[in-house]
Amino acid sequence: MFLRLKYYLTAVCLATAVVSAKEVTEDDMKTLRLVHAFFRHGARTPELKHLFPTDPYGVDTFAPMGYGQLTNLGKRQAFRLGERLRNRYDRFLGKIYYPEEVYGQSTDFDRTKASLQLVLAGLYPPVDNQRWHEQLNWQPIPTHYKEDHLDYFLRRPNKYCPAYMAELDKALTSEQHQEYLESVRSTLDFLTENTGMQVKTTSAAFGVYQTIRAEHVMNLTLPKWTENGIYPEALNKLAIRQCLIENSTPKLRRLNGGRSLQKVIDNMLAKSECRLQPENRKIFLYSGHENNVVNLLTALGFFDSVEDQYFPDYSSAFVIELHEDEEEFAVKLLYLRDVEAEYEEKQLKGCEDVLCPLQDFIRLTKTVVPVNFTEECQSPVNLD
Ligand SMILES: *[C@@H]1O[C@H](CO)[C@@H](O)[C@H](O)[C@H]1NC(C)=O
Ligand SMILES: *[C@@H]1O[C@H](CO)[C@@H](O)[C@H](O)[C@H]1NC(C)=O
Repeated sequence: MFLRLKYYLTAVCLATAVVSAKEVTEDDMKTLRLVHAFFRHGARTPELKHLFPTDPYGVDTFAPMGYGQLTNLGKRQAFRLGERLRNRYDRFLGKIYYPEEVYGQSTDFDRTKASLQLVLAGLYPPVDNQRWHEQLNWQPIPTHYKEDHLDYFLRRPNKYCPAYMAELDKALTSEQHQEYLESVRSTLDFLTENTGMQVKTTSAAFGVYQTIRAEHVMNLTLPKWTENGIYPEALNKLAIRQCLIENSTPKLRRLNGGRSLQKVIDNMLAKSECRLQPENRKIFLYSGHENNVVNLLTALGFFDSVEDQYFPDYSSAFVIELHEDEEEFAVKLLYLRDVEAEYEEKQLKGCEDVLCPLQDFIRLTKTVVPVNFTEECQSPVNLD
């Protein structure tokens, strides 16, 4: 009897774990209290700093937008992400835009700022008396960002966080990473030869991948040398390796994805204790880069196996929902690996259900969440 019961419970858990998130039930939206979404910008032109000397394309190809800017496809993707969020959260948000309910912040990049505006345009098409123009189905929604050198939250940690830089340097010079570089030496040499620049590190290969990926998505003809397993295969692996190395120790994970989780947990706790300001806030939108998505996936243990190591596509998103059911608060994690994909429900290791009680969620993520970010970064300035 006991065994059967146990079997039954396991079966129930498994069934919950694989349930598709496509169909949003009414119950889902009845219990929802707060949403955080971290997403990558839409498709873009290459960045000037990542162009390689033999690249056949340059500023003329990218005119009139220039380097590192959203393409028209990228604009459609970001807008579509807003529509996807509208589809899921229609009941929760309601159709009317109330300024206090939504907070959007981007990094200090044109493409993430533009993406955030597009997501909001897809999420809040004006209705009723918020329609102010006969042809234009859009309303202005203010957004926020911190200047790049003062962005201690969404921006990839840099010299503002000396402890992170030291730890990353240690990881990059570790024997394990040196051995890895040795194992891909012939590929790196091949890239060096064909790009016309030194490609000796995974970071340099990451730049080449980003450029070729951008050009590929723009439907530009790629150079011949990228064929035969270099793009996407080898370059994708090298770019992912760079993401992995940036998250390769507990300290790196704390100061990367853990930093984002810290903010999210603070907000969720405040919401659960009725002290979130403003109190009717419903959704936080964070417009960033692939690392903002990868770092969260890694910190939460969803980027460990080779099958999980998927480079987050343009307008991919990681979403954290706070639910309340019979006075119990619980967290649900969702991953949208690209903008047309289904929402994947992600079950935190150690939690029995995709809906993870808030206190369990906090306990299970404790080792990866910084307590005092300023102190752990060994920063001379306050980072909060
Ligand atoms: C590239 O080509 C594909 C297939 O024809 C098309 O669906 C896509 O919209 C094109 N992308 C751009 C940026 O034109
Ligand atoms: C975090 O640490 C810094 C530096 O040690 C300190 O000045 C600050 O008061 C601490 N913040 C909190 C919230 O404890």
